[in-house]
Amino acid sequence: MRNNIPPAPSALFPDRSTRERVDDLLTRELANANERISAGPVMPRLDVAKFRQELATFDFEAPRAADDVLAWSIAQLEHGTVHMTHPRYFGLFNPAPVAPAQWADRIAGAFNPQLASSGSSPAPVEIEAHVIRAIARRAGLPADSGGHFTTSGSEANYTSLICALTRAEPRFSSDGARAFAGPVALYTSRECHPAWLKIAHQAGVGRSALRLVPSDGHGRMSDQALAEMVERDLRDGAVPVLIAATAGTTGGGMIDPLERCAAIARSHGIWYHVDAAWGGAALASDRLRGALAGIELADSLTIDAHKWFATTMGCGMFVSRDAAVLNQAFTVGGDFMPSNASSLDPYLNTVQWSRRFLGLRLFLALAVAGWRGYGAHVERAVAVIEAVKERLLERGWVALNDSPLAVLCAAPSAAAGDGGNAAGEIRPIVSNLLASGRAWVARTTFEGREVVRICATHGETTIADVEELVAGLTEAPASRS
Ligand SMILES: Cc1ncc(COP(=O)(O)O)c(C=O)c1O
Repeated sequence: MRNNIPPAPSALFPDRSTRERVDDLLTRELANANERISAGPVMPRLDVAKFRQELATFDFEAPRAADDVLAWSIAQLEHGTVHMTHPRYFGLFNPAPVAPAQWADRIAGAFNPQLASSGSSPAPVEIEAHVIRAIARRAGLPADSGGHFTTSGSEANYTSLICALTRAEPRFSSDGARAFAGPVALYTSRECHPAWLKIAHQAGVGRSALRLVPSDGHGRMSDQALAEMVERDLRDGAVPVLIAATAGTTGGGMIDPLERCAAIARSHGIWYHVDAAWGGAALASDRLRGALAGIELADSLTIDAHKWFATTMGCGMFVSRDAAVLNQAFTVGGDFMPSNASSLDPYLNTVQWSRRFLGLRLFLALAVAGWRGYGAHVERAVAVIEAVKERLLERGWVALNDSPLAVLCAAPSAAAGDGGNAAGEIRPIVSNLLASGRAWVARTTFEGREVVRICATHGETTIADVEELVAGLTEAPASRS
């Protein structure tokens, strides 16, 4: 009989004093890196050849000292990423994460609870459900709404399509898309997030099922075009299953006519989803939430906490007024699982099986800041964009979008001229700004015109940062130091 077991590898399981020393070291080094990042260029230059050479030396044969590898890793992140934690990153919806969310990651990493089942993680599962109910209430959905955390907005949007298909045809569960009497159709605006194409693909209805509804000239879905497309599809024998309006489009932060889209969906018995991946955080503000009127009519919602709620990546949410359909869509036998609660267990109600405790991030942040704190955060972002807009307009630029949220699509007036042939002027403006390292903005197309897209994603951007951005966009490159 064996009565001795080899010691655990200490590199993987260091003793308590080593762990505490390294944890403290990391706390200090990460704070130092954060300070250096804020004072440096938004887009550092990586010597890719040198980086690859160094990376290639990690052959995983000879172990290295943890302190060295940690220092190396921090340095690569400091020099090898666009800095989303820089106050002059006015970029895609990638936030500088709030402190409570980072604390939550530390706690979740230490306990590493498995959130598949309420049997093994009763407290974490209930904490997540509590946050989802709070979000549902805030959006005006019924008290018995359900939902869950997802890894992304794309997963939440995918979940909406699976729910829509399951409710439209109960045999979808066994027979897939061939259960329908005709080809399935789903509708969203041409300004939607492009992941909808992948979603149609992975759900098995095919990318051609996605109808991209024309916009109204201002970046919002045209409800008239939507109604006509649905009618035409019905005449042609297609089966409309989902209308997905966007509340805060990726490009221009525009909000589709939520109430009118809801009415069209209701009149045909179509599942109505609102993709508020980014814009949903405006619900936190009593001043801004009115812009989302109609969201309460949705069958389901996508809201990403890792966008404007500024948690760490990725932390999406799916919320549905029809909690039961989730179980119809995702139920499965799991004899070996510690629990089998059809209305509660995440493995019986979601796409994922093994799950990280994502919801603690938003729980902690909401608990310490309250809706009021988050309201102040989103209102501040809108104020940042208003300050950018004022300054650009003073310098003769024009604003193309008219969003109540914190994103601006702008162009020098000449570039915004008729025909929208601005591409020639927008590209050098953006590439010169990025090369200067002064700030980061994106280039996109809004209603057919190429524009500079500026979004407030950092919670501590100052007026000095705004001035620097505007100078970087409007000064001739030669005059830059
Ligand atoms: C409106 C909208 N929906 C969905 C997504 C996709 O979200 P995720 O990147 O979390 O998958 C985005 C991303 O920017 C978005 O803006």
